Amino acid sequence: MKLIIANKSHVKYAQIISDTITESAKVRGTGIAKRTPEYIQKRLENGNAVIALDGDKFAGFCYIEVWGHEKFVANSGLIVHPDYRNQGLAKAIKKRIFELSREKFPDAKIFGITTGLAVMKMNYELGYKPVTFSELTDDPEFWKGCQTCKNFDILTRTERKMCLCTGMLYDSNAKEKKVEKEQVNSKAFKRLKSIKESLFLKKKTNE
Ligand SMILES: CC(C)(COP(=O)(O)OP(=O)(O)OC[C@H]1O[C@@H](n2cnc3c(N)ncnc32)[C@H](O)[C@@H]1OP(=O)(O)O)[C@@H](O)C(=O)NCCC(=O)NCCS
Repeated sequence: MKLIIANKSHVKYAQIISDTITESAKVRGTGIAKRTPEYIQKRLENGNAVIALDGDKFAGFCYIEVWGHEKFVANSGLIVHPDYRNQGLAKAIKKRIFELSREKFPDAKIFGITTGLAVMKMNYELGYKPVTFSELTDDPEFWKGCQTCKNFDILTRTERKMCLCTGMLYDSNAKEKKVEKEQVNSKAFKRLKSIKESLFLKKKTNE
């Protein structure tokens, strides 16, 4: 398995990456922003993405997006092909894209929003902390990316204060505070997620 910083030669993988994201969103049933092949293609070309290949076969992908004039970067679109899951590949991709973010944008805060426990676990291990959305970028272009998520109405209803996703932030200025490797409290996370779902989704059906 090779982890490579993507370039123009990987544009041929844009379709399968987009399809894998769409299929996974259907299976999970939770919201994931859609990413068209054209959108993915741009990310493959601009030197800010990591692709995992098993020979010629697509195995995984993640990209960096820059927001708020480089004050923030997000590591987005993490996807591992179903054939390669549960082998530590997402963890390796996350680590590589995190390192690339730190190399290319050393002063930026790194953030992500996720409904996934796996992603929360990996982010914790890299030093991210859960935060309210007010701590994340206010760049409207970032939040526009949520428009294709099926929960977008919740984000609008709460005036972008909260949604089913949890915001997580790595602040490079706080990095000196070397903490013990932290672990997600999976039980608490699942409970919080279910509270949010019953609160927001129930409200929706009552409207
Ligand atoms: C989520 C995803 C990227 C994980 O990929 P993976 O290569 O199977 O993950 P890894 O094997 O590297 O596992 C990393 C950690 O997450 C945990 N994990 C993996 N899948 C999980 C799941 N479905 N639920 C809870 N934890 C999970 C692993 O146990 C591991 O934790 P550990 O270090 O404590 O053992 C992959 O399932 C995927 O592409 N899903 C669809 C897209 C998606 O959900 N993307 C995230 C959008 S927010």
